[in-house]
Amino acid sequence: MLFKALQIDNTRQLNLFAKKTGIALKRLQYYNDAHKMPSGTDLEIILKETGLSEIQLMLATGCLNQALKSLLSENAAHISRLLSPVEKKISSQKDMKPVFKTDLGQLYQGDCLDLLRGIENDGVDLIFADPPFNLNKLYPSKINDNLKTSPYLSWCEDWAFECTRVLKPGGSLFIWNLPKWNLHMAEFLNSMLTFRHWISVDIKYSLPIRGRLYPSHYSLLYYCKGEKPDTFKPDRLPMGICPRCHGDLKDYGGYKDKMNPNGVNISDVWLDIPPVRHAKYKKRNGSNELSVKLLDRIIEMASKEGDLVFDPFGGSGTTYAVSELKNRRWLGVEIGPVEGIINRFQNIDEDRLNLEQIRKDINCLIPEKHYQKRLDQGLWTPESFRN
Ligand SMILES: C[S@@+](CC[C@H](N)C(=O)[O-])C[C@H]1O[C@@H](n2cnc3c(N)ncnc32)[C@H](O)[C@@H]1O
Repeated sequence: MLFKALQIDNTRQLNLFAKKTGIALKRLQYYNDAHKMPSGTDLEIILKETGLSEIQLMLATGCLNQALKSLLSENAAHISRLLSPVEKKISSQKDMKPVFKTDLGQLYQGDCLDLLRGIENDGVDLIFADPPFNLNKLYPSKINDNLKTSPYLSWCEDWAFECTRVLKPGGSLFIWNLPKWNLHMAEFLNSMLTFRHWISVDIKYSLPIRGRLYPSHYSLLYYCKGEKPDTFKPDRLPMGICPRCHGDLKDYGGYKDKMNPNGVNISDVWLDIPPVRHAKYKKRNGSNELSVKLLDRIIEMASKEGDLVFDPFGGSGTTYAVSELKNRRWLGVEIGPVEGIINRFQNIDEDRLNLEQIRKDINCLIPEKHYQKRLDQGLWTPESFRN
């Protein structure tokens, strides 16, 4: 973005600009690639050298502050007249046919944007999106997962905009991504939807990196359309119990008798979502498969039986399988191979068993597997306080 604003088209021009301004090449490259507005002395030098105003540079780099946003909004009619010739051309809607169906759901193969553009307004109750993270991963679909920041975010805005359009008033939208991308998505969604939560899901997602904190959580954005969601029924979780000795992991002091026997409230930090690494649970080769537990929690919290759930990035089909098992209608699309998803449905009893096990251990303070063991050891249970 910065190079475009400075009319730098090639390395020779870049070297020249760096030499003239004394700004290190590396820093100029960073401003451009990371989509940042220069500040301090660099900004002063750039403005002086180019004759641009600060507002011009902000507009050209797309780094707008609140004051500029207000100015744009005050002059919306005039600006939109100026911009109308370059407004985005929406590609025409493609006629897509489902490649797989159940009584509750339909799966399509293709680009989610093509499918989305054919979906009517305000019809979906819950959307969960787990897009590629632009980490240069090799997906079975061979999509380009190594875009520059600006085209990646612009693509994310396109599908998030469409998701917002098809979401019912009162419906909920969840987006799973790295914190660095969800920061941008939150800013984009804030202008259309109501922010509910930034949920931190504790899963280590890469090896420790020198000079950085160990990346240890994914971001799960939770928005709703309109003032509040039609459905908000979070499960309750068991208290922390040591899997070996079955004792309390936390000291509840004098509050034990006040604890809800149905479990503790779910917070916005989720520590109990397992990564899908074990071959037994993996539905396709490679990574990027989310756990049934995560989708169960989201679908349970923000939809009811019969509701329509949409996931624009099928992958191994976790959202669709969990929706099916929980009696939600579902709509799915995957740009790459879909055989893995179809096979998953052929063996859906595996997911059913997994889901049953997951649900057995929630909505109670002490799961069955610990209960008797605690009694045997004379440890407290909610019943200890009943007269
Ligand atoms: C991170 S994975 C989703 C994993 C999924 N949540 C699961 O649990 O298995 C992202 C998926 O989106 C697919 N994808 C990428 N671009 C797409 C597009 N434009 N339309 C539809 N699917 C797309 C990729 O092929 C990949 O399978």
